[in-house]
Amino acid sequence: MKKMRRILVIGAAGQIGSELVPFLRNKYGNDNVIATGRKTPLPDAIKKFGPVIYLDALEKNTLSKVFYEYEIDTIFHMASILSATGEKMPQTAWDINMNGLINVLEASRKYSIKNVIWPSSIAAFGPTTPRDNTPNTTVLEPTTMYGITKVAGELLAEYYYKKYGLDVRSMRLPGIISSETLPGGGTTDYAVEIFYEAIKNKKYTCFLKEDTVLPMMYMPDCLKCMIDILEADDSKLKRRVYNLTGTSFSAGEIAAEIKKHIPEFTIEYKPDFRQAIADSWPKTIDDSFAREEWGWNPEYDLKAMTKSMIAILSKRL
Ligand code: SER
Repeated sequence: MKKMRRILVIGAAGQIGSELVPFLRNKYGNDNVIATGRKTPLPDAIKKFGPVIYLDALEKNTLSKVFYEYEIDTIFHMASILSATGEKMPQTAWDINMNGLINVLEASRKYSIKNVIWPSSIAAFGPTTPRDNTPNTTVLEPTTMYGITKVAGELLAEYYYKKYGLDVRSMRLPGIISSETLPGGGTTDYAVEIFYEAIKNKKYTCFLKEDTVLPMMYMPDCLKCMIDILEADDSKLKRRVYNLTGTSFSAGEIAAEIKKHIPEFTIEYKPDFRQAIADSWPKTIDDSFAREEWGWNPEYDLKAMTKSMIAILSKRL
């Protein structure tokens, strides 16, 4: 029988981590997925069904201890400070994003970890990158600290793979839309907030302009990509970092789609500092390498995602 993976999810309280843990437990077994948190309490759905520990990726020795004691062979390193918060505290963003990552890579190399999954972001791109159908290999000159840590992280991932044979895999995630845990401190967060406000208050003030187009993905597709890239056949992978997208839309387009379900919904636009960040990122992404090399195929477009978000949130709120 094939040995089950022993998976550590660093950053399990976050927007993706909080849904990734139950998703992985469903596939690999509750006891084989160890959820870690640091400041934010972990949701009950995580605490009830499997192992949970405190872990700070900045503490090198603790990382090694956990890898050893829990016989970890697979890591999802999801802990990160996002773009908007990163601009408020750039040095902390550098510290958590970069030192956290290199500690994870170092401990992984020493403990012969089989796979490390670490998400990059569309924030790795910048104003000099072609904004339409952005290719996988292109100019990477981001202007946010978050983006800088993503580019440096991508290069580290390649480095550890080439120099030490550590199997690090990464995908440049777009804005993630989800119904369970709110995102924190990102530029694409508006596309989640808008649903909560539309359902609760029938109105929303958007911090981006109406015609701002950004690449996005719905959580079920995001979860799928995590397992797909993890289980992809190494011999088919020609790179460590993949462009990925679900669908692109403007703030005005998502508002119009929501209005189809909630006709009283109104929106106004008051762009703040996050507009400049959004303007430096691509509108649409070419993810053909992910499609060709590991079968990436997202299910949700704007219409299907909106329908699902509204159904789930209306029930809960
Ligand atoms: N969602 C992220 C952000 O807005 C992008 O990776 O910062």
